[in-house]
Amino acid sequence: MVNDIEKVLFTEKEIGERIKEIGQEISEDYKGKDLILVGVLKGSVPFMADLMKKIEISCSMDFMAVSSYGNSTETSGVVRILKDLDFEIENKHVLIVEDIVDSGITLKYLKKYLSAKNPASVEIACLLNKPERREAEIDVKYLGFNVPNYFLVGYGLDYAEKYRNLPFVGILKENVYKK
Ligand code: PRP
Repeated sequence: MVNDIEKVLFTEKEIGERIKEIGQEISEDYKGKDLILVGVLKGSVPFMADLMKKIEISCSMDFMAVSSYGNSTETSGVVRILKDLDFEIENKHVLIVEDIVDSGITLKYLKKYLSAKNPASVEIACLLNKPERREAEIDVKYLGFNVPNYFLVGYGLDYAEKYRNLPFVGILKENVYKK
């Protein structure tokens, strides 16, 4: 698996350090507020798991599953809800937790969808941002790192559902996906 990686962009340690900072910011910003973290399956799982442990205030968590890409490497522009929230979010402060914002289509849709449920606020925490790919304007309040437009895998990011379990974020070798 590691042999398929061209270059490591962010090590486990670098990711951990950045997440600690973000966790502290969130803990301060949401002090005394009813916070719910909403993870977007499946890519956000490692980020969600690490981030929530660095949040020092009381919060709850929920998950949504949406489909945008399928197994393709290009966005279809279509967002479909596969799993909705388990909990009501009315009057709660919602923080959407994502691994990557690419075109921005998924997060733009999700923010609008969740905002319609009358929460106290809806913000976004995202580990990676690919600004070059942006199509929909989106405001990420808590961002881990900006990344160049390469095929990235690891730490939740997949190629055909594989590589999510790598503990770092790396660039996938071209010969793996251009066969
Ligand atoms: C990825 C990622 C975001 C979305 C970002 O999910 O986790 O949800 O694509 O792309 P966008 O900004 O162009 O909308 P994907 O659909 O690959 O599902 P996954 O989380 O299960 O990997």
